[in-house]
Formats: sequence, C-alpha cells, structure tokens
Amino acid sequence: GGLRTFLVGGNWKCNLSKDAITSLCKELAAAPDLETDKVEVVLAPPTPYLDHTRSVLRQDFEVAAQNIWVGGPGAYTGETAAEMIKDVGCTWVILGHSERRNLLQIRESDDFIAQKTKTALSHGLKVMFCIGETLEEREEGRTLDVCVRQLHALAETIGADDWKDVVIAYEPVWAIGTGKIATPDQVEEVHEKIRHYLAGDVNDKVAQETRILYGGSVSPGNCNELAQLPDVDGFLVGGASLKASFLEVIESFK
Ligand code: G3P
Repeated sequence: GGLRTFLVGGNWKCNLSKDAITSLCKELAAAPDLETDKVEVVLAPPTPYLDHTRSVLRQDFEVAAQNIWVGGPGAYTGETAAEMIKDVGCTWVILGHSERRNLLQIRESDDFIAQKTKTALSHGLKVMFCIGETLEEREEGRTLDVCVRQLHALAETIGADDWKDVVIAYEPVWAIGTGKIATPDQVEEVHEKIRHYLAGDVNDKVAQETRILYGGSVSPGNCNELAQLPDVDGFLVGGASLKASFLEVIESFK
C-alpha cells in the first residue's frame, strides 16, 4: 500500500441470515475508532439482504452486490438490475468472481463480465473486478496470460476514464477457500505485472492509481505481511469476513 487508499472488501458469498447479519453489523460497529478516512471498507451480502445490510451497517462502510444483470430492468427472471442495487443504497458490485467464471452452469465469459462492468459503471456503481488463474494454469506458467486476457476484455470495453471506479481483485483460484495463501513473493510478482500491463494497455495514470487487492484465504493471521507489499492496496476477503475478527484485517492498512 502507500500511494493509494487501502480498501478491504468482505465477500459474504452465499452465507449468513438476516439475524446473523444484524449481529455481525453490531459487532463491526463496536470499533468506533477505525480510521475509515484511511481505509475503505465494503461488504457484499447475498442479494436478498442488500437492503437490510445497508440499514444495519455502520454508515462509514459501503455495501456491494455480488452480481448484477448485464442490462436494464425487464423480463429477466431471477436477475437484479444495477438500478435496483443503487436504489437500496449500494455503491459497489463484485464482478468476475471465479465462482461465477468457473461454476458449472454459470460460466460467465470474459466478454460478459466486461459488459456487466460497463453497465455497472454507467449507473454510477463502482466495481471490484476479480481475476485470477487456476492451479493448472499456474503450473503451466500461464498466470499472467490468464490475468491479462481477463483484464484486456475489460480494457477494450470501458474508457480510460472509467478505471477510476474499478478496483482489481487478484484472486488465484487455488487460494480461494483453501487456506492455501499465495506467498508474499507470488502476490507481489503478479500485482506488479498487472500494473505493468495496465501501463501498456491503458495508460500510466491508470496503472499508478488503480487499486489492486489480493484475495484468497486472507485472515487476521496473514494479512499484515501482505499489506506491506508495495503493490497490494487491500484485500477481498471471503471466510474471514463472516466474523467480527474481520476488523483485524481492516486494521492491517496501518
Ligand atoms: O472474494 C473473496 C474470496 O474469493 C476469497 O475467499 O474464503 O478464501 O477468503 P476466502
């Protein structure tokens, strides 16, 4: 971190209940001295709880959806339009998560994710854009190719000015929910290369200003070391964001 404002996202995925969210939000409010002018915090509840989460969560934390529909409101059974996310006070959306890229019967493509990102940005939502390689891709030495392919689809679809509302979350698929965290060297290497790629494919300003978060088995026990890395600007946290000790990950910006 350093140059860019640290950001910590909590992706609750398909977990928690209305009551559990109320309790967790109460516990998160019990840290009034958190310097939220120095660290942005964004929580992403399941869709049915977006409105409730916004109403019980401390005001200095923001709320993200975990997905949006690519178009506007209409005859799209089961989908949620960007307008609706905004309407209940959410300011962010997570897009391109590996669980949506890789889950059977969903399999969102690079292009579809880029289109959704464009839709989100055009409605004034900020986007946590997730990328990352599978274990097989890493072992084949294709980590950077995969990340670049995923990012290039976006770079082709949005304008250079749009990147100010995009945060990249590098989440190696093999580190998600496995307890197998990437080493600091592995994380810094990919983040630095992503920044280099942005300088070439977009421009220097975007490369310097875009925040790159790390995600994959981040916990209170391992966040402090990673937070010190020059190209790590925050975290996207899954499992460890379901408990009040998530506050310790937020504090790692210091
Ligand atoms: O989006 C966050 C995520 O995929 C990481 O999950 O449980 O490994 O922290 P987890």
